[in-house]
Amino acid sequence: MAYLDVYIIGLGNLGTAFLEGLNSNNNLNLHLYEENDDIRENYSKKFNLPVFKNFEKIDSGVLILCIKPQGINSFLKQTSTQINKDVLICSPIAGLTISSISKYLNNKIIRIMPNLLIKKNNGFIPFVKNYEGDYINFELEVLSFLGNIKEFDEDMFPLITSLSGSGPAWYYELSQQLIEAGSDQGMSEKDAELLIKELIKSLPDLINDEDTFSDLVNKIKSPKGITEAGLDSLIDDSFQIIIKKAIQKATQRSLDISSELENE
Ligand SMILES: NC(=O)c1ccc[n+]([C@@H]2O[C@H](COP(=O)([O-])OP(=O)(O)OC[C@H]3O[C@@H](n4cnc5c(N)ncnc54)[C@H](OP(=O)(O)O)[C@@H]3O)[C@@H](O)[C@H]2O)c1
Repeated sequence: MAYLDVYIIGLGNLGTAFLEGLNSNNNLNLHLYEENDDIRENYSKKFNLPVFKNFEKIDSGVLILCIKPQGINSFLKQTSTQINKDVLICSPIAGLTISSISKYLNNKIIRIMPNLLIKKNNGFIPFVKNYEGDYINFELEVLSFLGNIKEFDEDMFPLITSLSGSGPAWYYELSQQLIEAGSDQGMSEKDAELLIKELIKSLPDLINDEDTFSDLVNKIKSPKGITEAGLDSLIDDSFQIIIKKAIQKATQRSLDISSELENE
């Protein structure tokens, strides 16, 4: 059995999620890189794997770029001669297009937008690539090991990033506002937080493949009931417009970051 070499650059939120999700795949050889001294030391101990500051040369396998958009152009400029053209480049970096990476590397490139649930092998991973077929079995051995995968047109990535990449933040913000509404109306913030956290934990079990979210709302509300009174107030206060505008703004920001990175 040939091992697949997987190089993870950056062990922040997402790099760690990759590491946790892939650590139990015995068909992979994980190579870890992180600039921060404390993180390097902690993760070496925690995962019993060496974590290096930087690499000298990568000949084969896949390089997963888990660094912030701000540092990516200088990283690619500095390392492009150290990366063999057979190496698959995998980028989850928000806003970074395949054509931007191609300015530095003439390699096969796969762009992905995973969520952090990849750490529990239960993520969802939209992807787009500039090649045909499953090069080095990456989709089979790595992406599908981390969750469900689906190919999209690259044009959809700004919207995918705002709907799904930033998605947890929309739900967390709504949860925070519910907690504040509860505490405004007399509940302690601690109790309100407990109620909302327990509520959020129950949601996955209530979602199913058949019902749309509108169906689920209809199952909770009843005519002239409590839920309907709140939903009517949301509609009166332009909830739909607020959400649509937020997604438009976030998508536009993603497009702007792409232009900034391309023109840097
Ligand atoms: N977090 C998410 O849910 C999520 C979801 C989808 C996509 N993404 C994308 O994933 C990327 C990483 O996000 P993140 O939230 O994981 O960021 P993060 O927590 O800031 O992690 C990035 C880590 O990489 C390190 N680093 C930077 N340059 C490096 C280099 N040249 N070599 C080795 N390590 C380096 C950073 O160290 P220093 O702090 O010392 O610079 C930091 O520890 C972003 O581009 C983001 O768009 C994130």
